[in-house]
Amino acid sequence: MIDIREIIIMPQKEQLPLDTRRESKGTRAFLEIGFGNGEFLVHLARQCPDDVFWGVEMSRSCVLRALKRIRAEELRNIFLLCGDARFILKECLPKESLDGIYMNFPCPWPKKKHSKRRVSSGEFPSEIADVLKPGAFFELVTDEEWYGLEVRNVLAAHPLLELTEWLINPPRSVTTKYERKWMEMGKRIYLSRLLRKRAGSAVGQRSLGRAEEVHIRVPKKGSLKDFVNTIHNKGGEKGDALWVYKRFYESAEGNAYIIETVAGDGSFEQKFFLQIVERDEDALIKIAPYSSPFLTESVRGALEGMALLIETRFRSAEPFGDAPFERPAGKALSQ
Ligand SMILES: C[S@@+](CC[C@H](N)C(=O)[O-])C[C@H]1O[C@@H](n2cnc3c(N)ncnc32)[C@H](O)[C@@H]1O
Repeated sequence: MIDIREIIIMPQKEQLPLDTRRESKGTRAFLEIGFGNGEFLVHLARQCPDDVFWGVEMSRSCVLRALKRIRAEELRNIFLLCGDARFILKECLPKESLDGIYMNFPCPWPKKKHSKRRVSSGEFPSEIADVLKPGAFFELVTDEEWYGLEVRNVLAAHPLLELTEWLINPPRSVTTKYERKWMEMGKRIYLSRLLRKRAGSAVGQRSLGRAEEVHIRVPKKGSLKDFVNTIHNKGGEKGDALWVYKRFYESAEGNAYIIETVAGDGSFEQKFFLQIVERDEDALIKIAPYSSPFLTESVRGALEGMALLIETRFRSAEPFGDAPFERPAGKALSQ
């Protein structure tokens, strides 16, 4: 049985950008975004054993379902990443490294408030163009005509992409779970295929580091014991970034606290642990080394927000309770 760690890749800072060929030089590398149960990836990997296939999927249960299939078939040329494709394309994959990207039946996000998640929105087209080699393809199939047209038109207008195909009910050698579902309902399938034109970059520099490098020292006078009791469900927001503190745990010696924290940047969410080490004159806030999130805007916010809470607590003579960071109304994290 293949070890899980050989299939599900957890990118570490020192390994970024990832080697998309997994040291098998000379082979081609492809990616499927939103692979669902993984059957499309498995089909491709079986057909082309010399190529490398990557899958990015936001849903952990989908990753586990795909993992089961891959292990059952003993396939060693599929690698899975769990997370938001927008984030992974920009931060983890090398530019001009893929021979093709597939997207089968992505959610069309019909509501206006979710439209930023569409592949036709924001930086997503540039992030796709950036990781494709010149001459490589991006292929998207959908059952929603309006979405197919929107993707086709927006991506075709991108300076690094060129539309080569727009097909209705194209013949397909493999179907996916959603494809079968829509076809049984008599829906039509719309395929857009675009090629990456030339060399050149569309997206700015990568921004990530690993968060365990950041420490914040905050002066304080009294004990933190009462303070940590009051932070449950407090949090903050800054633009698209949102963070919330959850349960806390106290060390046996009573001089350190671990705070479960959920932080989201758009739809990319991370759960990790903040650590507060209490010393005589100050408190040291850092990321617990084993939780290792990416240092996104919301993770920085959670660190700085905690420092501000502690500062406010010990600066003010008022009993703690009216902290400047309350969990923002109307916004929610899924965890
Ligand atoms: C409608 S399902 C289609 C699944 C599969 N491709 C199929 O055709 O059966 C869309 C999938 O995309 C995933 N997804 C949505 N947005 C994503 C993103 N930004 N990054 C990675 N996966 C995403 C969802 O979790 C879901 O599993």
